[in-house]
Amino acid sequence: MHQLENRTIFPSQGLRGEIVVPGDKSISHRAIMFAALAEGSSLVRGLLRGEDCLSTLAAFQQMGVQVEDRGEELLIEGRGLRGLQEPGDVIDCGNSGTTMRLMSGILAAQPFFSVLSGDKYLRRRPMARIIKPLVGMGAQISGREHGTKAPLAIQGGMLRAGEYHSPVASAQVKSAVLLAGMQVEGVTRVLEPHLSRDHSERMLRYFGVDVQSFAGGASVCGPANLQGRDVDVPGDISSAAFFLVAALITPGSELLLKNVGVNPTRSGIIDILQQMGGSIELLNKRELSGEPVADLLVRHSALRGIEIGGDLVPRAIDEFPVVSVAAVFAEGETLIRDAKELRVKETDRIAAVCDTLGKIGGQVEPLEDGMRIVGTGRLQGGRVNSFGDHRIAMSMAVAAQAAGAEIKIEDTGCTTTSFPNFWDLLAQVND
Ligand code: S3P
Repeated sequence: MHQLENRTIFPSQGLRGEIVVPGDKSISHRAIMFAALAEGSSLVRGLLRGEDCLSTLAAFQQMGVQVEDRGEELLIEGRGLRGLQEPGDVIDCGNSGTTMRLMSGILAAQPFFSVLSGDKYLRRRPMARIIKPLVGMGAQISGREHGTKAPLAIQGGMLRAGEYHSPVASAQVKSAVLLAGMQVEGVTRVLEPHLSRDHSERMLRYFGVDVQSFAGGASVCGPANLQGRDVDVPGDISSAAFFLVAALITPGSELLLKNVGVNPTRSGIIDILQQMGGSIELLNKRELSGEPVADLLVRHSALRGIEIGGDLVPRAIDEFPVVSVAAVFAEGETLIRDAKELRVKETDRIAAVCDTLGKIGGQVEPLEDGMRIVGTGRLQGGRVNSFGDHRIAMSMAVAAQAAGAEIKIEDTGCTTTSFPNFWDLLAQVND
């Protein structure tokens, strides 16, 4: 559980300089998982040392995976698909939905018993979305509230390959099915209504697994044999997003964000902010361990409101709290639709954004599947609560950069979930 702390953030005179944001959270989880399941060792560079990824790392250490921490790098000794040991205790996934949902897919096909639990926020989040397809493949999983909530008890065993049509565009659902499927004989397919982030598909291929991506979904041919590989984790675009918006809304700002992952299934935030009139340039485009990367140059810009929906939503799903802050500083109205998933994130992010921005003078109307935000060009100072959600806390710190007076943010310790040095970087670019 993170520490309860409060912070007061003062308006900025302009954010300037060059920063490197920490490693991508989604890619870090997968690097740990796939390295642990591979034959041979893998060296992972740039791993995010946030609480969520540390939960994944601890889970595999509990199952016998040896890890050598070399500071900048982590050496993970893979145990192969059949080398994990039954954990001696409950696996604590902390606040991490990715840990719980992806691990469920892995553990459903392992020949032992395991229990997954987490903090009070994670224990409230829907798990039926992964249990249903896994049970369809023959898995034995039970949980609280008629098998829909954690703790989850998994009696692993032989599964069948299958095909699953997911009603939601969720990389966690897609990955859980692929990770179960890669352990069994035959082809397992997952179809989704919109393309969700494809880090699992890319990294499994990078580890030598036969994974196909096609319009509408992905498939894996099992049983797979993962080969240990060195992985360079790019900076997290979801963390960069806070600095992109902070620079765009604060006069006098110019920032260079180095080495940011710009995978097209994640780069919706760049498209959204550019459509709003934001000046963001992608420099030095390259590829790192199968993932596209660039440096992002962002300058303060006049923004205008836009409509956001459809395919763009899963490509920016974690960024809507900070997009809402940008929308307040834009001219005209911003309408966010097709984003019902926001209601089942670390917190109900539609309710949390309306509450927090509302308390500092933002005009935000909640919709069942999104929000309508009136761009007024200003926010006032005040007091808000993060609801224990890292992205709400950081979005409020971004709002404070361009607000009329300081904002006191309660419960800011949660930022260690995904961005342990957020406050230091914010101070650095304000120096
Ligand atoms: C993630 C997928 C997304 C995202 C989460 C990380 C992943 O969740 O919101 O922060 O690493 O696969 P959903 O799969 O529920 O959309």
